[in-house]
Parts: sequence; C-alpha cells; structure tokens
Amino acid sequence: MRIVRSVAAMQRQAIRWKVDRVPVGFVPTMGYLHAGHVSLMSRARQRVGQRGKVVVSVYVNPTQFGPQDDLSRYPRNFARDRGMCRDAGVDALFVPSDREMYPGRDLGNHSTYVVEEVLSRPMEGGSRPTHFRGVTTVVAKLFNIVLPDIAVFGAKDFQQAAVIRRMVDDLNFPVKIVMGAIHREPDGLAMSSRNQYLSSEDRKQATVLWEAIQTARQIVRASETGIAARRLKTALEKFIQRQPSARVDYVEFFDPKTLQPVSKVVRGVHMALAVFIGKTRLIDNSPL
Ligand code: PAJ
Repeated sequence: MRIVRSVAAMQRQAIRWKVDRVPVGFVPTMGYLHAGHVSLMSRARQRVGQRGKVVVSVYVNPTQFGPQDDLSRYPRNFARDRGMCRDAGVDALFVPSDREMYPGRDLGNHSTYVVEEVLSRPMEGGSRPTHFRGVTTVVAKLFNIVLPDIAVFGAKDFQQAAVIRRMVDDLNFPVKIVMGAIHREPDGLAMSSRNQYLSSEDRKQATVLWEAIQTARQIVRASETGIAARRLKTALEKFIQRQPSARVDYVEFFDPKTLQPVSKVVRGVHMALAVFIGKTRLIDNSPL
C-alpha cells in the first residue's frame, strides 16, 4: 500500500492511472476508522475489480467544523488507520496535512468554496450552518486530486451523500457516487468515530437513537393511513428524553430523494435524527 502525503504526488499517480485506463474507487474519510469505513472500502473494491485501484483519504477537514464543534479533540490514530487500510487491500492511502490542503496560515490563502444551496439547508445544515460548505469544498478538492471513477459514501451520513450527489450532478464531476449501508454495533448503535467520546453509562443510553427509529417504524407500519409527522415527532422526542443524558437536536421525516419534510409519515418515508448524549452529538437515519 502506497502512502501519499502530497497533493502533487497523489495527482501524478491519479493521472498515470487515468492514462493507463485503470479504474479508481475512492473512499474519503476523517480517519479513526471502524468496520463501517472498511465496508465502504470493500464496496469500492467490488466496483473497480482486482485490476482497479482503491484509494482512501484520511483527512480531518477543518472547514467542515463549526466554532463549537470538536475539531481539536477529533480522535486520531494514524498507525491503526494505516493497518486497517492495508488489511482491507487498499492500494493508496492519501494523508495530506492542513498545509497541503489549505496552504497559507489559518486558511488565509483559500477563498473559493463549493456551496450546495438546497439539500444542505435542513437537518445537519440547520444545526451546523457552515458544515456542508466545508464538506462539498473538501470533497470537490479530493475529487480533483484523486480523479476517481467511483466514490463511496456511507448511508450513516445520508444527507451528506445526497448533497455530494447533487454537487456531482450540478458541476459535472465525472464520478459515480455509491452509497454503502450503515454498519451498526450488535445493540444497534451506528458505528461512528465519535462513539469513543461516550462514557460507559452514556454508551448504554446511546442506543436510544436506534430504538427511536425502531419505534417509529413499528408505529408507521401498524397504521394503515400513516401518522402526522408532528405527532410522531413529539412522541419520539418524549421517548428519547426519557434517557437522562439525552437531548434531542432534531427528529425529521422527509422524502429520501428531495429531503423535503413530509407532513404525513407513511412507509418509505425517511427518518433522520440528531441527539446529544451528554456532550456527544450522534446522528442516525433509516427508511421507515
Ligand atoms: P467520516 O465521518 O470519517 O466518514 C467517512 C465515510 O464513512 C462517510 O461516507 C460516512 O458516511 C461513512 N461512515 C461513517 N460511519 C459509518 C457507518 N457506521 N456505516 C457506514 N458508513 C459509515 O464523512 C466524513 O468523514 C467527512 O465528512 C468526509 C466525507 C470525509 C469529508 O471530510
């Protein structure tokens, strides 16, 4: 597995692969990898085949963190990430520094951003106003550096994958976006690098996100005509707040294609939620 630290070297490698018509599958990450990330790497391998190349990036992108967010304490363990990528059969691991990605002090030399203006507004965009601008900008940069044919994103960040798909369509990136399923712990908690912030007591309470989804699914499937979104939201908020460490940020029901909220929740409507468990903000989502 090749470790690439500079933008120029990664781009040179990517161009060589293009010239040789070697298909490239790409999995962008912020590291502190877990089985969910590894499943996306397998998905990329499946798509490009043995002759193709799988590239993973590990980069904690400062522009997608807000001032209140956890940038400085975001977990990092490069030795472990590198081992996991090697075991997963990754061909190249791109690990740029901040200076490589955003030259100049304090992002001072960076003044061009990619902004998606519709799908990025609700939910995560409501709670974290500059988050998606940072995500679309860094993913556009990474696509220009890695030149992938396909890129794999996890359904764990459903809105992120939808925003990236729209960016790729709107700006004609020659990249096919593939969405990988959510990997969960045995008790249903969606795997996340942020789960390691949880104390053992909070870790137990964190299953409430998955339980809320299951509860919503049961209610929706038991009703013939559907249920008013407002009513279901109130019921689920109550259910979640029964955990002493839990504070709901949002619970939303929406059309999975447009991300537009629905007023009536029926089978097939998508649910997403964000909940603080203690100081840790967790997200999850599922079709109902
Ligand atoms: P990160 O949170 O590291 O996630 C990298 C990719 O792994 C994302 O596509 C995410 O949806 C996926 N992922 C995370 N947890 C998952 C799980 N439990 N099951 C399946 N997939 C999972 O998302 C980012 O990084 C960044 O925003 C990034 C796209 C790299 C841009 O900086």
